[in-house]
Amino acid sequence: MKKVLFTVACSYICHFIFAQKVEMPLAKFKTGDNVTYSYPVTDDRQWGTIKPDMIWETQGYDNYDGYAWYRFHIILPKSIKENSLWKDSLRINLAKADDACEVYFNGTKIGKSGSFPGDAAGYISSWNKKQEYHIAANSPFINWGAENVIAVKVYDGGGAGGMFSGIPYINMVDLIDAININNKSSVRFTRPGKAIKNISIENNATEKITGILTYDIIDVDNDKSTSHTIPVSILPKKKLDFTIPITLAERNNIHYKFEENKSHKIIELTEIIPYILTPPVSASPKINGAKIFGVRPGSPFLFKIPATGKGKLQYSVENLPEGLQVNKNTGIITGTLKNEGEYKMTFVVKNSIGIDKRAFTVKCGNLLALTPPMGWNSWNCWGLSINETRLKASAQAMIDKGLINHGWTYMNIDDGWEAETRNANGEIVANHKFPDLKKTGDWLHEKGLKFGIYSSPGTKTCGNYLGSYQHEAQDAKSYANWGVDYLKYDWCSYDSVFDAEKDTSLAAYKKPYTLMGEILKNQNRDIVYSLCQYGMKNVWEWGATVNGNTWRTTGDITDTWESLSSIGFNQTSQYAYAAPGRWNDPDMMIVGEVGWGDNLHPTRLTVDEQYTHVSLWCLLSAPLLIGCDLSKLDDFTLNLLTNDEVIAVDQDVLGKQAKQIIKTADYQVWVKELEDGSKAIGIFNVSSKDDVVRFYWSDIGLSMSQKVRDLWRQKDIGNFDGMFATKVAAHGVTLIKASAN
Ligand code: GLA
Repeated sequence: MKKVLFTVACSYICHFIFAQKVEMPLAKFKTGDNVTYSYPVTDDRQWGTIKPDMIWETQGYDNYDGYAWYRFHIILPKSIKENSLWKDSLRINLAKADDACEVYFNGTKIGKSGSFPGDAAGYISSWNKKQEYHIAANSPFINWGAENVIAVKVYDGGGAGGMFSGIPYINMVDLIDAININNKSSVRFTRPGKAIKNISIENNATEKITGILTYDIIDVDNDKSTSHTIPVSILPKKKLDFTIPITLAERNNIHYKFEENKSHKIIELTEIIPYILTPPVSASPKINGAKIFGVRPGSPFLFKIPATGKGKLQYSVENLPEGLQVNKNTGIITGTLKNEGEYKMTFVVKNSIGIDKRAFTVKCGNLLALTPPMGWNSWNCWGLSINETRLKASAQAMIDKGLINHGWTYMNIDDGWEAETRNANGEIVANHKFPDLKKTGDWLHEKGLKFGIYSSPGTKTCGNYLGSYQHEAQDAKSYANWGVDYLKYDWCSYDSVFDAEKDTSLAAYKKPYTLMGEILKNQNRDIVYSLCQYGMKNVWEWGATVNGNTWRTTGDITDTWESLSSIGFNQTSQYAYAAPGRWNDPDMMIVGEVGWGDNLHPTRLTVDEQYTHVSLWCLLSAPLLIGCDLSKLDDFTLNLLTNDEVIAVDQDVLGKQAKQIIKTADYQVWVKELEDGSKAIGIFNVSSKDDVVRFYWSDIGLSMSQKVRDLWRQKDIGNFDGMFATKVAAHGVTLIKASAN
């Protein structure tokens, strides 16, 4: 193909054309917002000049949040269209825009990403989304061979702002661009060492496409690969499906390549195949989960003995205190304890193959959540579109997929359940999505699951639903009547009450939480109290004094490495405040199918990032709240969430949080003290390439000879004298337990 390489000087902004591509390295720029800024005729000669590949904070607009406009002036040579194979559409690639943007081509709106604060949906950030727009090449508003103005309105909701992540450009959409390799379906692990991957090749062009599909299955650790080639012919607007059988090494990638026959252009992508580390559960019975449970005297007791094993399990409890009963078929313990005290008992689980016994302690007193709560929350998957069917689907999956047998218990409805108005008595009621919350609670309890709900101390929740302001006692009573076991209490619109009172003292921050904490304590059932105010005024220093069992230490998490690592690896100063019944909460888990609304997508974390996520949260003694649609749980995610030795780190009776002991630019080592005197150690590779991490035991305060167990693989890996070394995947982890010899 003929290469065009020249520079065009347009009225006052230069742009560059390389090989049929118009680059836009500079824009005219103005903060603020005015609809006229989208018009091509607007005179922007007095505006500033900005580079669109770098956030505006680094270009003289430090700390600026809010609206701003970028205007690109470009000449589009006709040759770009004429020389292309497929003359159908023009691509406008704007890299990324932090946080939301709207794009105009010569005054015609061609796209939008995220949502602005004034929009019906409210502010939604799409800061990490690629901004690529395709428009028909024969659109009447394109000036071929003459000047065009692309105007981009950007809204920054906080932190970094503006366009970034690459130089924007325009070119023709190629025939190869009409081909999509769809590899979204999850890998199925069919039997040990074998898996299946389904993909399809989609032809979005209006003509037939032929080409060659090549896929290589790569054994990452041994640098070996097997290659397969398939000739492909796909009719317009059709797709072809392929099933790829995989013989698994421990870590595998698949590299897909499609070469289009006419242009010889290639699209390719590499997929990391999830790798399963947790060994299968054994056929003989095994008791899992927490070894201790807290309850108040007189409160309804509900605890399901989590146990795995083949076939039907039979449960019993030696020394079960008076007032409690165990169902021998389900392992659900119910009843009430009258008196405070520490009750020691032994759980016994049998099947046709064998028996397991384990000591268990019930502390009847004032403290709940003696180990971090484990369960599910609706927010990271369904957002405000949670409803009863979706809740029950995840609850049923908790049981059917066996998560409950590893200690997963709470089913928490987040925001979006509340009706628009209170009833005539001023009581909070659920909206049409939850027909009868009392029945929902009973349904969960019968299954041995617990029931969580959400509110705000303000008049409105963060999703603009009714909050509890001035109805706190009434609401807590309703929760108790419905059988609620967990309340997440989210600051949200309490800002306006706070602003009106003009008091910024610590006492003012504590006030709404103290109030609800006292009220919850006086209900006729135990309600775990989860504070959510994003860490303001170092909540970890005082969360316990308002009866909080858990407190969010950060803003909201999302399913990216940037979010996960910046939240997780910064939980450094809070460790001293974690204790049984008192947990720092770095926010809910972002594994599986997430989405914060009707449309879910597989988490964007890589496999290794997910191993890091679960390992770090367990080391941090964090509440473990799964944030995905459990009814769609894939094999990998199920495996990730059911490793009993990893979960045991989180649920350890001592209740200590890990300390960050080593931090370099490339790796970190976190150490958590465990009840049995050993240490759980997370060795995290935060760099973007696989590497070997080495350290002396003395570097992390341990004696020189340690016996080491790999917790993900549940395998003793030997005695290590002096030093420990381990290969850790990019953004991945080695999680070990070390005991002094
Ligand atoms: C806040 C919280 C989230 C979620 C939403 C609900 O953003 O931090 O965890 O509860 O509100 O609106």
